[in-house]
Amino acid sequence: MAYRILLVDDDPVLLKTLGLAFHRAGYEVVVALDGPEALRKAEEKLPDLIILDIMLPGMNGFEVCQRLRQLPGGEHIPIIMLSALGRVEDKLAGFSAGADDYLVKPVTPQEMLTRVQVLLARSARLLEARRHAQSRIVAFIGVKGGVGTTTLAVNVALIAAQNGRRTVLVDLHPEGGLAAVQLGQVPRVSLSDLAQYTVDTIDERLLEKHLLPHRTGLRLLPAPLVPHKVSNTLSSQHAQAILDRLTQQANLVIVDLPALLGAVTWVVLQRADCIALVTEADSIAIGAARRWLEILDSEGIVRGIVHVVAVNRIGGTTPYTKLQLEEMLDTEITALIAYTPEQCLLASKNGIPVALQKRDTILEQQLRELAKALV
Ligand SMILES: Nc1ncnc2c1ncn2[C@@H]1O[C@H](COP(=O)(O)OP(=O)(O)O)[C@@H](O)[C@H]1O
Ligand SMILES: [Mg+2]
Repeated sequence: MAYRILLVDDDPVLLKTLGLAFHRAGYEVVVALDGPEALRKAEEKLPDLIILDIMLPGMNGFEVCQRLRQLPGGEHIPIIMLSALGRVEDKLAGFSAGADDYLVKPVTPQEMLTRVQVLLARSARLLEARRHAQSRIVAFIGVKGGVGTTTLAVNVALIAAQNGRRTVLVDLHPEGGLAAVQLGQVPRVSLSDLAQYTVDTIDERLLEKHLLPHRTGLRLLPAPLVPHKVSNTLSSQHAQAILDRLTQQANLVIVDLPALLGAVTWVVLQRADCIALVTEADSIAIGAARRWLEILDSEGIVRGIVHVVAVNRIGGTTPYTKLQLEEMLDTEITALIAYTPEQCLLASKNGIPVALQKRDTILEQQLRELAKALV
């Protein structure tokens, strides 16, 4: 997607020459002849960068800059001031009004382009850093068991950990979970042990004792391998406390949920920043996914955070294209995952998930794409 640049100057000749140069370099250009027009256009759709003249009719560039900074999201947009005013005082006034850079006219399009590239690259890095600084909860839930939910959760968690995110995977299956097995690990303790502590004693140290480290840096809070005894079942207060602590110590918490809408599941879904609803690529499972979406919607889960992922488990290519599945579902599908039984079976058997196999298979590529979309 092209970067959008808002060019603000009362000189139509300058707008045309710079506008053309940016356009040729592949940018999307929006122009404004004065302050109010610039503010209106920035508010309509935030640009990725703003080039701002100072001597404008009516409202001057310093004031426009201050007001741009107050728009929602406007505080992080790179703003370059471009002015005929070249005194040190003018530059200082520009920076204190919130500009990131200050250029004195005349300026060649080449220099302008270079400055823009530098600022955009910096702002992309900052954006990424901000994203990483916040802790995020991503929940995986299948429309039924056996659709490949755990496989997706485990692989997405591994990819995030490999990319340097401090990631914890929580296997929240009371009936026995297999995330540890997929990771080639045997848990000595599990959520079932944690459930025996009172909620107010669940602190970072206690959690740490229940986390299983993986060589990628991923940490797993495992489910028991066999079903919980009823007395060892996690309460929704436990789930709240665990999420509170984990989001303090990790910046990504991935939760593998059972296909059950119990109290604990709702705690996670209500707190999730992103929900992957996993289904199969056939008409019955897509029908089920439609009903799940309705339930999530009726419980006030924002539609925008829900991603439908369809796993092809029919074999060969599915009888339906992604577009057809989307029509049946009446909504977009984030990913259609290929049917790869041998690869998945081998992964489980050896405890080496697909994301770690480095064989550059279609499935591995799809998992990386999925991780990008969800994490
Ligand atoms: N894309 C796929 N193609 C073929 N088999 C898969 C795929 N994803 C998962 N599987 C297999 O399906 C079975 C169930 O997977 P799992 O991730 O445990 O599902 P769930 O968590 O939904 O119960 C496992 O044997 C797994 O290896
Ligand atoms: Mg599972």
